[in-house]
Amino acid sequence: MKVLLVNGSSHLHGTTARVIEEMLPIFAAEGVETEVIQLGAKAIADCLQCNKCKKTGQCVLKDDGVNDFVAKAKSSDGFIFASPTYFAHASGRILAFLDRVFYSNGKDEVYPAFQFKPAAAICVARRAGATTAIDDITKYFGIAQMPIAGSTYWNNVHGLYADEVHKDEEGMQTVRNLARNLIWMMRCFELGKQNGIPYPATENTYCTNFIKRNDNER
Ligand SMILES: Cc1cc2nc3c(=O)[nH]c(=O)nc-3n(C[C@H](O)[C@H](O)[C@H](O)COP(=O)(O)O)c2cc1C
Repeated sequence: MKVLLVNGSSHLHGTTARVIEEMLPIFAAEGVETEVIQLGAKAIADCLQCNKCKKTGQCVLKDDGVNDFVAKAKSSDGFIFASPTYFAHASGRILAFLDRVFYSNGKDEVYPAFQFKPAAAICVARRAGATTAIDDITKYFGIAQMPIAGSTYWNNVHGLYADEVHKDEEGMQTVRNLARNLIWMMRCFELGKQNGIPYPATENTYCTNFIKRNDNER
């Protein structure tokens, strides 16, 4: 089993990285493989909605690992997306990345690399706004049929810098519990597969934008 953990901060050794590091030994102790993906400090372009990916399944912008990530996601079983809180939202960096990851993988509202795989969002903050930032990231899970792993509190941990985040003892406990819960969910789904419980059928006949169009108007 494999979990991908995405760090949406520019800081390789910042608060978000420290929180991710708190979870890694828990996955390792349970024999779950992990890979941490650092989005880094370079700019990540926003989705162009050029729609080329709808034909090829690939994002045309080759700059920042979006296509590599989707390829890795296909053979992974669970996901953690972690970000600093910026003005009560997730980092623009991780949102630009996730827009392109999900848009390029999704067709007719089905997301094959992600559907039925559990995920969770974590946001770090100095003081406030982390829960709305978590909501930003959690939106991707809801549209992609991804079960959301919970913990013993919302997954926010406090610290302005990495060297103080360990003082938020409950926050760190929350992300350790989150790692355990994600492992448990992945194992349950795996056992379900092995015991003949099929994935649910997905209807995707309708994709409307609330406007009833007459095709002659296009
Ligand atoms: C542009 C910007 C906006 C921020 N907005 C908030 C905020 O709304 N609430 C908060 O508590 N901290 C805020 N912070 C502080 C960061 O969330 C905090 O320093 C975090 O630990 C940085 O994580 P990192 O080291 O992984 O990048 C902000 C920081 C920046 C640079």
